[in-house]
Amino acid sequence: GAIPVGAIFTISGAASVYGGSQQAAVQLAVDQINDWGFLGDGNSINILFEDSASENEQAIAAMTKLVDEDQVVAVIGPTLSREAFSADPVAQDAGVVVLGVSNTANGITDMGDFVFRNSLPEASVIPGTVADSVSELGITSAGLLYGNDDDFTVSGYEVMLSELSDAGVSIVGEETFAAGDTDFNAQLTNLIGANPDAIFVSALAAEATPIIQQARSLGYTGPIVGGNGFNSPAVLSQTGEDSNGLIVGAAWNGSSTNPLSTAFVEAFSEATGNPPDQFAAQAYTGAWLIASAIRCADSTDRAAIRDSLASLPEIETPLGLFTFDEDRNPVHPSITQVAQDGVFLPLISEEEPAS
Ligand code: ALA
Repeated sequence: GAIPVGAIFTISGAASVYGGSQQAAVQLAVDQINDWGFLGDGNSINILFEDSASENEQAIAAMTKLVDEDQVVAVIGPTLSREAFSADPVAQDAGVVVLGVSNTANGITDMGDFVFRNSLPEASVIPGTVADSVSELGITSAGLLYGNDDDFTVSGYEVMLSELSDAGVSIVGEETFAAGDTDFNAQLTNLIGANPDAIFVSALAAEATPIIQQARSLGYTGPIVGGNGFNSPAVLSQTGEDSNGLIVGAAWNGSSTNPLSTAFVEAFSEATGNPPDQFAAQAYTGAWLIASAIRCADSTDRAAIRDSLASLPEIETPLGLFTFDEDRNPVHPSITQVAQDGVFLPLISEEEPAS
């Protein structure tokens, strides 16, 4: 029959640039899963979307409704790490799988054995971003700017600081902001005055956009390097030329030649009229992982689906060859991107195969 699966995304609110993309991608995956009869025997996924509105309390209410009233067998989301830290304990206590598809803060899966994520944490992506930035751009000094009141932005900062320090890059300044701030001129003036080779920023899209604009208005022309929050086409379209040269670590890039990725890009573009972003690729893959776990469990029992998800073999996905580690965190390749004329491109081109 129809198997209820929940999805909590920030469709509205401060971080809605991610949620709309995630919802469209999960809807595409569910349509394919159902149309192709992936769950067999007349079974289908009945996807139930909830809007967390970038509010932790709303994420808790959505999780409680899905788990208690709708009796879902698994939940995808919520979008933000801070929403996950608030809402995932509801799923954990009820013994329902919750699969984060964009949570990148440290410690997400420490909440319990029903908590998974397929989104590479900052700790998995930023080391490559720092290494590639140092090798490609010759960075020897950096300033850091981060939001100090958000689980994800703090995690990103901590990993940036430790990786830059390990790479021998001197930190010439550190500045902070709060979620919802709009004026970053004081912090940027201080950082730019210290003359860094690059400015590393850990921010969600709502703050990333004005940070880029104001850094350029202040005359800073050097590299800006961002974490997962920058991975939205909205950041690029809202900043225009100001984001040329922006370096962003990611779990996926649209130029991937992986056949599952190119098929996803084509299907998503046809369904929505727009190319997918990294958040869409992760959400789409997450829905297929949940469907695979249900199919392998051959059951709608919540605990059986948890065990099935935890023991999925290494599989090909649009994100590349994918597996969960023993802590239910994802293992797959990451990529360092550079923004050029409104598009994220790989900073280092894939090596040509030897002839
Ligand atoms: N990666 C962001 C977070 O974890 C969306 O909050």
